Amino acid sequence: MIIKNETEFNGMKEICRIVAIILQRMGQAIKPGITTGELDQIGHDLLNNYGARSAPMVCYNFPGYTCISVNEEVAHGIPGSRIICKGDTVNIDVSAVIDGFFGDTAATFAVPPVKASTQKLLNCAKQALHKACSAAQTNLPLNGIGLAVEKEAHKHGYTTIRNLCGHGVGLTLHDAPEGINNFFDKKDKRLLQWGMALAIEPFISEKEQYVQELADGWTLKTPHDSAVAQFEHTVVVMDGKSQILTLPY
Ligand code: CO
Ligand code: CO
Repeated sequence: MIIKNETEFNGMKEICRIVAIILQRMGQAIKPGITTGELDQIGHDLLNNYGARSAPMVCYNFPGYTCISVNEEVAHGIPGSRIICKGDTVNIDVSAVIDGFFGDTAATFAVPPVKASTQKLLNCAKQALHKACSAAQTNLPLNGIGLAVEKEAHKHGYTTIRNLCGHGVGLTLHDAPEGINNFFDKKDKRLLQWGMALAIEPFISEKEQYVQELADGWTLKTPHDSAVAQFEHTVVVMDGKSQILTLPY
């Protein structure tokens, strides 16, 4: 969506504040022995407290309130009986709607003891997100976002996942503009406009460029079970750096 007035801006700020808090609280609850289903229940309770509804459930009938993807799972993991273990990486993606406005945020958490290689991958993905958010400015090319992500990944010897991308967000979960690639697409001639609400979400991989869907019809994983890290913010395009609505984490 393109935010046109104060009411819309405030609506976006509110839902984004809520999903950011829920993500943070779920992240704090991660510990060895907890199941992804129990984590999702925490998310559900918090959504209820705020009077918000799960966006993947409302928009896609996703069988969970949040998406929780562990280790080789990259995205859209279904919460359930999987038990979190020491050394796991847990990606939590929280998107929700309140009063017709959608916000979307995600982070990858590492359960101690954290391997040095895992920490390096997480740092790179976080850095890629911040550089991508900085590249989102009024009248700059939209493909500058993917360029920033790709540059940061390559700098550390990593790849980006090419078949998972960011997206517009606001009046629905996946709103216009569609397809904010995590790589530089030179054919993409779109320009960013003031007030565009975007979900920017780089997926940084040790070596893979594509993910595949599991038989459950939702979970996406890497073909060789290699690690992937993703962080996601909802931002609003401004003159100068975009405003990040889903801080803090
Ligand atoms: Co998301
Ligand atoms: Co998203």
